Amino acid sequence: MAEKDLSVVVFGATGVTGRRVAAYLSERAGETGASWAVAGRDPAKLERVLGEIGITAPETIVADVGDPASLASRARVVLDLVGPYTLYGEPVIAACVANGAHYADLTGEIPFVRRMIDAYHDRAVAAGVKVVQVSGFEALPPDLAVLLAAETARERWDEDLSEADLDITTQQPTGRLGLADLISGGTLQSLAEAVAGEGAAAVDDPAALIPDPELAAAVRRRSPIVLTPRFNARGDAITPMTPVAFINPAVIHRTAALLAAERGAKAEPLRYREGVAIPGGAATMPLRYVAAGALAAMQGGFRALSRARPSVRERSASALRRIFPSSGFGPSGTRLDEWSWQVAVDARTAAGHYVRVDVAADGHPGYLATAKMLGEVGLLLAEDGATPERAGCLTPATALGTAPLDRFERAGVRFSVSS
Ligand SMILES: NC(=O)c1ccc[n+]([C@@H]2O[C@H](COP(=O)([O-])OP(=O)(O)OC[C@H]3O[C@@H](n4cnc5c(N)ncnc54)[C@H](OP(=O)(O)O)[C@@H]3O)[C@@H](O)[C@H]2O)c1
Repeated sequence: MAEKDLSVVVFGATGVTGRRVAAYLSERAGETGASWAVAGRDPAKLERVLGEIGITAPETIVADVGDPASLASRARVVLDLVGPYTLYGEPVIAACVANGAHYADLTGEIPFVRRMIDAYHDRAVAAGVKVVQVSGFEALPPDLAVLLAAETARERWDEDLSEADLDITTQQPTGRLGLADLISGGTLQSLAEAVAGEGAAAVDDPAALIPDPELAAAVRRRSPIVLTPRFNARGDAITPMTPVAFINPAVIHRTAALLAAERGAKAEPLRYREGVAIPGGAATMPLRYVAAGALAAMQGGFRALSRARPSVRERSASALRRIFPSSGFGPSGTRLDEWSWQVAVDARTAAGHYVRVDVAADGHPGYLATAKMLGEVGLLLAEDGATPERAGCLTPATALGTAPLDRFERAGVRFSVSS
């Protein structure tokens, strides 16, 4: 990578999330000395959109998704914000692997991630390139938090984790929130593509990212994705993860599989459960259970659709593409700063030893914290020696390791081992 003249390029910097990655890098570049650029297909739109949020990028590269080599040849790291990834992601990954650039994206389209592993893992290993998918709110914080718990259990007792329960709590801005405050058109369109595309049945498979069939079967037996609401030890109602309950588990199980393979050990699948916590006292318990049930039913509908015949999936996806708002729709303004969220991981070893990891974060999880975290991932991947020596199609946790966790504090995301 010696001849690369840029540390990080943000591709898709006009998007709801991409513009905030650019904003984060414009602050961080001054602190780190990293050279960076924005890229997109429409230079006038790039200038206008970034101008609206007060950003001037040091350089603008004009590139369409059909021609990403111009980015990959110059950058040490390409941050890809051009979704839906099922439609647009592969040429960017191919160009990065061919041109020796690390790659990170925000996809949650698990069948697409599996296709990229099958097609590019070996080539990326040979090229010494890290391909790091699913690096946003899904699945970076859960993946790193579970890895931190696993490493803590190894250090303290030389034991592997046998189970991990992860709950997320969010605090939203006061006042009425509309759909645009919660989710972007880009994310909704990506959901439609995830059910429409090839291999959609893998959408809800916890072992979707594990190529070894024997290990994949063991993961499915030990840790199926259950949508039924439950209560945690603190009395919170736990609803399925939103917007989709099927993203983090596949990533977390791949992390465990990659690390076990690296140690030459047989992977013993983790029993992993996750969800969004609806806190409250005993009085509101029935109400919270009903709310949790409604959210679970929605996810159940998504699961059923992913298993339907291809013609049904394609018809439904084309209806969803029309109904859902399109690119550019999404959260904006200073209300994004008013969100905060927490992740708690309660993990146990087979011998019953307990570890708790907490993550406390500021900013809208999907579109502000995600953008800052991805920006920091770009800076870390660009720095020699900041991340483990691994290459291939990696998860956020295997690509980054826990050594640079304190770097995410700058992005408003703080990891700690609490007990
Ligand atoms: N996992 C997470 O936590 C998380 C969080 C946020 C977003 N995401 C994912 O990230 C992706 C982006 O989301 P978003 O809300 O930011 O989407 P968005 O607002 O629709 O932005 C999409 C970007 O892609 C660009 N683009 C589209 N087609 C292109 C082409 N042919 N060539 C070059 N650029 C092209 C658009 O450029 P133009 O402006 O020129 O159209 C825009 O910059 C989605 O897949 C979403 O699901 C994931």
